Amino acid sequence: MTVSMEIVVKEDAVAVAREAAERVVTAHREAIAARGRFTFVLSGGSTPEALYRLLASPDYAPRIDWPRTEVFFGDERCVPPEHEWNCYGMARRALLDHVPLHSDAIHRIPAEHGPAGAADEYALTLARVLHLDQGQWPRFDLLLLGMGDDGHTASLFPGMAALDERVAWVVGTEVPPYVRPQVSRVTLTLPVLNNARAVLFLVTGQAKAERMRQVLTGASGKMAADGGELLPAARVRPHEGTLTWLLDEAAHSPV
Ligand code: 6PG
Repeated sequence: MTVSMEIVVKEDAVAVAREAAERVVTAHREAIAARGRFTFVLSGGSTPEALYRLLASPDYAPRIDWPRTEVFFGDERCVPPEHEWNCYGMARRALLDHVPLHSDAIHRIPAEHGPAGAADEYALTLARVLHLDQGQWPRFDLLLLGMGDDGHTASLFPGMAALDERVAWVVGTEVPPYVRPQVSRVTLTLPVLNNARAVLFLVTGQAKAERMRQVLTGASGKMAADGGELLPAARVRPHEGTLTWLLDEAAHSPV
């Protein structure tokens, strides 16, 4: 069961980014003290960009032991790394190019190889970098997630098969017709998200308030084929980890 779940509401997106940066510093310090390195999964989308820029700033960059940090991605769009839609590309411009991370400690998803091929490649990368034996699952120290206004997270979308994957660590997926950008994705699967030591959701903006209310109260009323909650973000509950929803006031309608 989830070790702890907390909802933290900050006045605006700037305060959310600053609170998130403090939590990254804390998580990284605990990971390095316990295991000698910090495995950090970045999210795509627009929300985390402010956090990434903050982590690269003089206020935060010196507080992180970058040479002992390994960076991964929760999902990726199937476009080249330099494409404007590429999650790694955004993180590189906002953070990765500005901190002393070893280049071989940045593990982007090679999604330009197509959804299935990239998923297989990334699973091999995870096994190698995380030193996983047969039967072990990836377990990240801190996993950042966002939430779309349809309740998706990473590239796990309502009604798509990827949400029900229970064997593979990484899968390719198409996206529902309403999603933009309309491009295939590669995503970590729900069991990997739920195996993290800590999951930190960053959700801001009034447009997500109703969906946030549904996720936090289970009030979507819609069930997936397996009887589980339809909204992917509502299914993220690390079974031996902490879950934190970090929201701004606009995204948090009192439940
Ligand atoms: C992506 C992300 C996705 C994102 C949500 C929220 O590849 O886009 O992984 O899950 O976190 O869509 O995106 P915003 O932060 O732009 O609202």
